[in-house]
Amino acid sequence: MRRLLPVSFVVLAACAGGRAPEAAAPRVGAARAAVLAGRARIPTTWGMAGRARTVAAARAMVVSGHPLASEVGAEVLKRGGNAIDATVAVSFALAAVLPDAGNIGGGGFIVYRETAGRVRTLDYREKAPAAASRDMYLDAQGNPTDHSVTGHRAAGVPGSVAGLYEAWKQHGTRPWAELIEPAIRLAEGHVIDAARHRDLADDAERLARFPASRRQFLVNGRAPARGTTWRQPDLARTLRLIADSGPAVFYRGQIADLIVAEMERGGGLITKEDLRRYRAAWRSPIQLRYRGHLIYSMPPPSSGGVTMGEILNIMEGYDTLPPFGSAAYVHREAEAMRRAFIDRNRWLGDPDFVRMPLERLLSKSYAAQLRAQIDLRRATPTPPFATDETDGAHTTHFSVVDADGNAASVTTTLNNSFGSAVTVTGAGFLLNDEMDDFATAPGKPNLYGLVQGEANAIASGKRMLSAMTPSIVLDTTGRLLMVVGSPGGPRIITAVYHVIANVLDHRMSLADAVAAPRLHHQALPDSISLEPGGFSPAVMDSLRAMGHGVREWGYRGLVMAIQRSPAGWVGVADPRSGGGAVGY
Ligand code: GLY
Repeated sequence: MRRLLPVSFVVLAACAGGRAPEAAAPRVGAARAAVLAGRARIPTTWGMAGRARTVAAARAMVVSGHPLASEVGAEVLKRGGNAIDATVAVSFALAAVLPDAGNIGGGGFIVYRETAGRVRTLDYREKAPAAASRDMYLDAQGNPTDHSVTGHRAAGVPGSVAGLYEAWKQHGTRPWAELIEPAIRLAEGHVIDAARHRDLADDAERLARFPASRRQFLVNGRAPARGTTWRQPDLARTLRLIADSGPAVFYRGQIADLIVAEMERGGGLITKEDLRRYRAAWRSPIQLRYRGHLIYSMPPPSSGGVTMGEILNIMEGYDTLPPFGSAAYVHREAEAMRRAFIDRNRWLGDPDFVRMPLERLLSKSYAAQLRAQIDLRRATPTPPFATDETDGAHTTHFSVVDADGNAASVTTTLNNSFGSAVTVTGAGFLLNDEMDDFATAPGKPNLYGLVQGEANAIASGKRMLSAMTPSIVLDTTGRLLMVVGSPGGPRIITAVYHVIANVLDHRMSLADAVAAPRLHHQALPDSISLEPGGFSPAVMDSLRAMGHGVREWGYRGLVMAIQRSPAGWVGVADPRSGGGAVGY
């Protein structure tokens, strides 16, 4: 069913549906001078200070959530593969070495910029199965259950294999099977590092509930020890089939049969027909202008580009910015984030189902209106809703620049860590729990505490709204400057915003920009989340005195970023994680 906005907004939304799925090389307008001349420093007392490692390379760079996957990508680039070849190889490698988020049972987005300037985005977000319905996760009293988070009914129709194949078919240069070979080797055996041991240990109880997951991920019910070799023969076999037969085997062949058998075993909804009908979609990028820089990001069904765009547009109007980390600066950022998330939660959804006033939401004049409503001395309360929240978030981002200057910014996810926790028996991969990214009960909070509206209600065949914000930033002359993205549920949007603002406004090095303490506001719950230890008690007291709710909240946004340097490229993996940068 096609849901339509009221007529007044349809008029304002004229640009939303009809753009070509690519953007030509832009002309950069008059640069608006960045507002801070000096280079901001992050406090030396901050736990992440000095912990981000900068990797420099002359020609090409890969930064991902696992050093082994980055090595795989860098090898592909060295052998002459391009950024999309590396994207395919890294994605499959992550499915083997980073099972909490790397996947073939989930979905993702690619923002791809060719060196000549053309930008395309690929949407391989999961879809609701045909049998899904608006209230499928509500109990008899109308309250949300946890079936959208754990178990078979949480899974949307996976998009990763179709998406990677589509990207490769259009832009790849190396043989498909060659790109999957490293992932097969890693699935046959690789050594578990400390970060992955921790991730598996954190979710061992949840994984143990499902026999195939227990067999796949645990040894005697516990996470495999750090330093041991982890073998995944079922996954290796699945990857071999995909290498040999492409997506057909996943969406129509043996693997489809195994997925459907798993659904029948656990009461899930995905059918052979759902799999057969799945297609990835090329979409027009969101283009933002920020202080003379062009930024490309992901359009709906991701909310990332639009929401980050609103935040940046509001912040751009401040001709001078208070010092980094001060209460006055945090207040402006939090109020900008609040307003952007109110719009996100109200308006955004799957563009194949809802019409959205994107042009208006992203206009500088609308940002000026929102900015004018910000009282620089007082918090503006978000209209109240009852809300509570859980804190789960996993997804993974990687950034690639190849030797020709083509760039891929790729975020992929199972949603929660280890997705639904359901492994497809005999196939060795996890299914996502992306259905929880819908407004499973419009007006009530989801896994991330996000309270969303009808635009993101569940419907058969619809894509659930995402926060993934894979982004590419150009310098003021139109050259590639940065490739950046993050996991972290709704905190993805604010993590990516922070890194861009830290580099462009505060002149931080990429390492400092990634390591700097972050804050997040998503309208509801109505409080500023500050990264623990990143802001002084005096700043927190000042914010409370302005009427803000203030709390400390572990910020799991794990940014993977590349920036142009005088000698080529620098790559930084977020020091909050066990990622890695590899270049040559
Ligand atoms: N599942 C996280 C996101 O797509 O935003």
